[in-house]
Amino acid sequence: MELNTLHSLSTLLVSLQQSILTITINRPDKMNALNRTVFQELEKVLDLVDEDKQIRAVVITGAGNKAFVAGADISEFTSLDQTAAKQLARHGQLVFERIEKNSKPFVAAVNGFALGGGCELAMACHIRIAVEQAKFGQPEVNLGLIPGYGGTQRLTQLVGKGKALELMMSGNMLTATEALQWGLVNHVCSAEEVIEKACQLLATITAKGPGAVSRVITAVNASFEKGIDGYSEEVRLFGECFGTDEMKEGVSAFLEKRKPNFN
Ligand code: COA
Repeated sequence: MELNTLHSLSTLLVSLQQSILTITINRPDKMNALNRTVFQELEKVLDLVDEDKQIRAVVITGAGNKAFVAGADISEFTSLDQTAAKQLARHGQLVFERIEKNSKPFVAAVNGFALGGGCELAMACHIRIAVEQAKFGQPEVNLGLIPGYGGTQRLTQLVGKGKALELMMSGNMLTATEALQWGLVNHVCSAEEVIEKACQLLATITAKGPGAVSRVITAVNASFEKGIDGYSEEVRLFGECFGTDEMKEGVSAFLEKRKPNFN
């Protein structure tokens, strides 16, 4: 897939500005719920993010002013047996893992309800910025379900066991202010500001060494991977930096009292 073919997508709007790709989940009449097509198209766009050097960072948001994403599309659940449900969850997990482990930074600009799979999508991103009206929750228990796209794990990592259990067992929603207090989001701002704030933050990040930014992501993720020693991973990645042009440029620029040029 190439950038100029992205207008053919039916559930996502995609635009590239100043190296930042904005992906808008575009099913506003269904609160941007994640159906099969959204996942298929998201995978195509993630292929492009991996391949296209013009793309340095990604913002994910939802269309309209009510929802970021109000979860998996519940209407697709009625036809699933246990095996198909497991496949659905595993597939969702794999797609979200591609975001979490991406070498390029992802920011979720949470412009409204982030429920169920929507909260899970936001949590898979590296950073979350929420509008004041945003609401967060894992309401799956209301449906006799549990989160299936990594929510039980990532929510626990982000807010701790007690708070994660409370949110997932009660199905309660958090306001943006509460999400900020809980450590679920990094920033709260007005709806008018959210995309701008996400892009500003990403402009700061993309001005740094891209290899170093990507190694920060890998090292932090290592902290949560079973069977991997995060400290050893940090040593490995720190050492790797010393073999890069980027590090030579960064250190030389500092010593020569000039700004580094990583591009
Ligand atoms: N899956 C499929 N459709 C969804 C959806 C979802 N997760 N969330 C919302 N929709 C649909 C509604 O069915 C409705 O469709 P319709 O107009 O064809 O009837 C439309 O989006 C608007 O939603 P509605 O419930 O009328 O809006 P609201 O403002 O009253 O409530 C929410 C908004 C987000 C609180 C409510 O839609 C909701 O609770 N959604 C489900 C959240 C959830 O349980 N997510 C976890 C799924 S595992």
